[in-house]
Amino acid sequence: MIELIDVNYTYEDKTPDAAVALKNVCFSVKEGETWGVIGHTGSGKSTLTEIMSGLLKPCSGKVLFNGVDVTKEKNATAVLKGKVGLVFQYPEHQLFEESVIKDICFGPKNMGFSSEECLEKARQAMRLVGLDESYENLSPFEISGGEKRRVAIAGVVAMNPDVLILDEPTAGLDPVGRDMLFEMLGNIKGKLCKSIVFVSHSMDDVALFADKVLVMNDGKVLTMGTVNEVFEKSALLEAAGLDVPQVTRLIARLKEKGHEFDSVILTAEDAAEAIYNKLKG
Ligand SMILES: Nc1ncnc2c1ncn2[C@@H]1O[C@H](COP(=O)(O)OP(=O)(O)OP(=O)(O)O)[C@@H](O)[C@H]1O
Ligand SMILES: [Mg+2]
Repeated sequence: MIELIDVNYTYEDKTPDAAVALKNVCFSVKEGETWGVIGHTGSGKSTLTEIMSGLLKPCSGKVLFNGVDVTKEKNATAVLKGKVGLVFQYPEHQLFEESVIKDICFGPKNMGFSSEECLEKARQAMRLVGLDESYENLSPFEISGGEKRRVAIAGVVAMNPDVLILDEPTAGLDPVGRDMLFEMLGNIKGKLCKSIVFVSHSMDDVALFADKVLVMNDGKVLTMGTVNEVFEKSALLEAAGLDVPQVTRLIARLKEKGHEFDSVILTAEDAAEAIYNKLKG
């Protein structure tokens, strides 16, 4: 659905302040996939989300959406509007309308839908992010931080993007908030969007919610694949300053010592069961 081919991006290109952010990135997201994007600070994750949503134009390379090269378009954002939705980090800072419902209607309204259609889309999005009707007329400034983030996500989801991209959606959330966020994204996927790409610093987030992982390192793709394939490469990940989940590391060490395990173990429960079965012989 979205395909990046040999994408390069440099901020302040051709100036003394030039900062290379993406180097020859090839990456594609197909319908139905959920991707986690990880990498250390400054590895290019946010730049990648902005390239994918058309906010930034690659310095070289192509971005294809359903086979159409959007880099050739004068206004890539207009072409991708409503097809690729980007939720920025701390999106709650961008709420500005006087009521929750108006804020969520803003995107669909901008796409040219009638008032009734906007309301319908906004209400559906609210239900899926777990906000009931009592929130509609509240000011976005009088609700809690967690609720604000839901409103902000609903605002993007209300546009029914094919691909929903979220930059560090779990930033600042406690473990309970994080679980609620992923539950909410699980509800949204397949209903209001077809694919999800989320950026995270946490391997545990990726293990919990992604099917596939893209690992960025200094603007380049270090590796990508299914969660199992990527977490197997724990040495590579650790060399890039990333931590695999603790249990995965434990199992990798046991494998190095010659103990065979069939699959990559991502949760403590699975690890306990696998080790128990081994000991039982
Ligand atoms: N507006 C900008 N102007 C100049 N350089 C920038 C700008 N935004 C990002 N960069 C640089 O581009 C590189 C990639 O930054 P990017 O924000 O994409 O990384 P990131 O992986 O999202 O980092 P973080 O985990 O801290 O959010 C970094 O070297 C960064 O300093
Ligand atoms: Mg970032």
